[in-house]
Amino acid sequence: MERTPLIQLKDLVKVFTLGGEQIYALNHLSLNINKGEMVGILGTSGSGKSTLLNIMAGLEKPTAGEIIYGHLHLEKLNEKELTKFRQLNVGFVFQSYNLLPTLTALENVGLGLMFKGVSKKEREEESKRMLSLVGLEKRMHHKPKQLSGGQQQRVSIARAFVGTPKIIFADEPTGNLDTATTYEIMELITGIAKRNQQTVIMVTHDEELSNFVDISYHMRDGEIIRISRKGGEA
Ligand SMILES: Nc1ncnc2c1ncn2[C@@H]1O[C@H](COP(=O)(O)OP(=O)(O)OP(=O)(O)O)[C@@H](O)[C@H]1O
Ligand SMILES: [Mg+2]
Repeated sequence: MERTPLIQLKDLVKVFTLGGEQIYALNHLSLNINKGEMVGILGTSGSGKSTLLNIMAGLEKPTAGEIIYGHLHLEKLNEKELTKFRQLNVGFVFQSYNLLPTLTALENVGLGLMFKGVSKKEREEESKRMLSLVGLEKRMHHKPKQLSGGQQQRVSIARAFVGTPKIIFADEPTGNLDTATTYEIMELITGIAKRNQQTVIMVTHDEELSNFVDISYHMRDGEIIRISRKGGEA
């Protein structure tokens, strides 16, 4: 029996028009992603990785093509519906952490749960649990500026995973980190996700990081030029 993929991308096109020139950031790209899979999107600068991630996450609209979650067609949703979709299903990790500077680690992590209508007490408990999980139980009341880059990224991982969203999208999550911290962060992300059967979709230009994912899609000029699986070619 064939499994139904969690996400189906069909013939995605994204065209940017700049100074009369048309740029195909995505050029008729199709792929399927299964539940619980660790997915890497690799490629050089400008190959379309972030565009693909943003469209999959409902942050951007495609010019043409389909993004299907079960029976839900993301390309047909309006902004309000997309926001709801993201709040209920998706967590994000960014290269620059994107933490709110005036909030503590604990408050940053709890913020996402507020939109889900979780009570204050429960938000605090869940956020504390997540911060402990990423090794920051002693830094909960620190603000981002009082934390190292690696620690800030741990907070943002706690924020992405709190409430156990189905999918975690990460765009160059280790882009600002040294090699040792990069491996720690990758172990954390994949470890938590595997335990909870969450799907991770991670953009990187670092070929080394393909060791941490189950399947890597290699992009060039808005197309997938190669697919590799951990331990060999697909
Ligand atoms: N808002 C925009 N307007 C015009 N062109 C854009 C826009 N966003 C992206 N592009 C173009 O689309 C292509 C793909 O960009 P994208 O940001 O997806 O690349 P990337 O693979 O994430 O690169 P990087 O590794 O540098 O982050 C590039 O040629 C880029 O210049
Ligand atoms: Mg990018």
